[in-house]
Parts: sequence; C-alpha cells; structure tokens
Amino acid sequence: MEESVGGSWLRDRLLLGIAAIGVVFLLAQSARSQESGEALFKSKCAMCHGPDGAGKTMMGEKLKIPDLHSDVVQKKTDAELTQTITKGKGSMPSNEGKLSKEQIISLLGFVRDLAKKH
Ligand code: HEC
Repeated sequence: MEESVGGSWLRDRLLLGIAAIGVVFLLAQSARSQESGEALFKSKCAMCHGPDGAGKTMMGEKLKIPDLHSDVVQKKTDAELTQTITKGKGSMPSNEGKLSKEQIISLLGFVRDLAKKH
C-alpha cells in the first residue's frame, strides 16, 4: 500500500518535470522561429520591403509596395498572405522551391508581428 502511494507520487513528479521541460522547449522553439522569421525577412525581403516592412526603399517606391504594417495588408487572411509569400504577386517574385514551408510560416509570423509595432 505505502509503496504504491509513494510510487505514484514519484511518477507524478516525474511527469510534471517532463511536462515542464516540454513547455520550456516549446517556448525556446517559438522564440527561435520568430527570430529566424526576422532574419529571413532581412535577407530575402528587405531589399524591397525595407528591414522594417514599411517599403520605404528604392524598389518599394518604384514598385509601389504597400506598407506591411498597414490595414490593407494586415486585413488579409493568413491563407492570402501565405499565398503571396509563396507564389508572389504582381512584381513580387515567387519563393516556391526557395523557401521551406517552415520558413514561410515564420515569415508570416514576422509580418503579423509588424501589426503590433506601428
Ligand atoms: C522584388 C521585390 C519584392 C521582394 C523581394 C519581396 N516582395 Fe513582397 N511585395 C512586393 C510587391 C511589389 C508587393 C505588392 C504586390 C501587389 O499587391 O501587387 C508585395 C506584397 C507583399 C505582401 C502583401 C500581401 C498581399 O497579398 O498584398 C506581403 C505580406 C509580402 N509582400 C511579403 C513578402 C515577403 C515575406 C518577402 C520575402 C520572402 C517578400 N515579400 C519579398 C515586392 C517584393
């Protein structure tokens, strides 16, 4: 009797410990994917959209690129933005085969985060 109670207490602690490690791991993962979204944006998109996504670049002026902070862009659905980032749109080149699904998702995350930093 005693032993089985002690055993399940230990098992509960162990499971809690594993769950805690899992949570920390997930948090670290999501922090890293946001970071790589920003790094990716700077290397693949900033030449047109500007490092902050505002589109105040020479290319941005020439191609009339919308400010990614603006409602015009932010009101679009995740599916629409994913489509643009993947296949391109107008003068924006396609990234198909150049970026992985994970990279596209972290770029979308970066674009969504811009809405919070006006
Ligand atoms: C050659 C310049 C160029 C590059 C590089 C570029 N874009 Fe664009 N982007 C544009 C232009 C031009 C538009 C406006 C397209 C339109 O509305 O016709 C646009 C529009 C967008 C939009 C608005 C969405 C929409 O559906 O209207 C998003 C989001 C976006 N780009 C994200 C990105 C991301 C992320 C990257 C990097 C992987 C990137 N762009 C690289 C030129 C560029």
